[in-house]
Amino acid sequence: SGMIGIIGAMDSEISRFLDEMEQVETQEFFGIVYYRGKLCNVPAVVCKSGVGKVNAAVCTQVLIDRYQAESVIFTGVAGALHPELEIGDLVISTECQQHDIDASPLGFPQGTIPFQEASVFPADACLIERAKKAGGQIEGVKVLLGKVLSGDQFISDVRKVKELREKFNGTCVEMEGAAVAHVCHLIGVPYVVIRSMSDRADHSAQVNFMEFTELAAERSCAMVRNMLLQM
Ligand code: ADE
Repeated sequence: SGMIGIIGAMDSEISRFLDEMEQVETQEFFGIVYYRGKLCNVPAVVCKSGVGKVNAAVCTQVLIDRYQAESVIFTGVAGALHPELEIGDLVISTECQQHDIDASPLGFPQGTIPFQEASVFPADACLIERAKKAGGQIEGVKVLLGKVLSGDQFISDVRKVKELREKFNGTCVEMEGAAVAHVCHLIGVPYVVIRSMSDRADHSAQVNFMEFTELAAERSCAMVRNMLLQM
């Protein structure tokens, strides 16, 4: 099978993969290190994009251009928006959208990219199926499918949570997924975002993020590992 690209934004989100990876070769492009090798016997390239949409976009482009990634999986932590989500629970993206793009003074709805036909980028059906199966194997953890919202903002305000749910029907919020989705959509490469909840994007978000990022990153990683084992 072809090369699978795996992106996390922070060390904690990819460290387990780097520990497990075999036959590793590293290369650096534009300040980001790419680890090519085998994960669960599957050819993969793992990298840490850094935080935010631009970093994630550059990284996705490199995975596709220089490594011919056939699919891209983003793994990491997010703030929960859906009321049923608890810290540690998992979200599989059905689609992604940038919540912070706003040309509404010009009459374009918030969250839509002016003059562009698509602003909500659907994830790949096969990767979603594989993720569902993988999630079913993790006990005691809720797995929801839904829209992942991304913006260059750490959300820690219940009013914003309410807005993101009401305006965009977001299931969770993070800072990279929609950028990966956007690049994959433009190039025509399948993607999925897997996120485990580190916080609820409310007044406790900073404290919860510090406390639960390791746990959540590990959960997300376990999910992706189960996906690779199916390949
Ligand atoms: N990643 C994890 N928690 C987040 C939050 N509350 N806002 C944005 N990105 C996050």
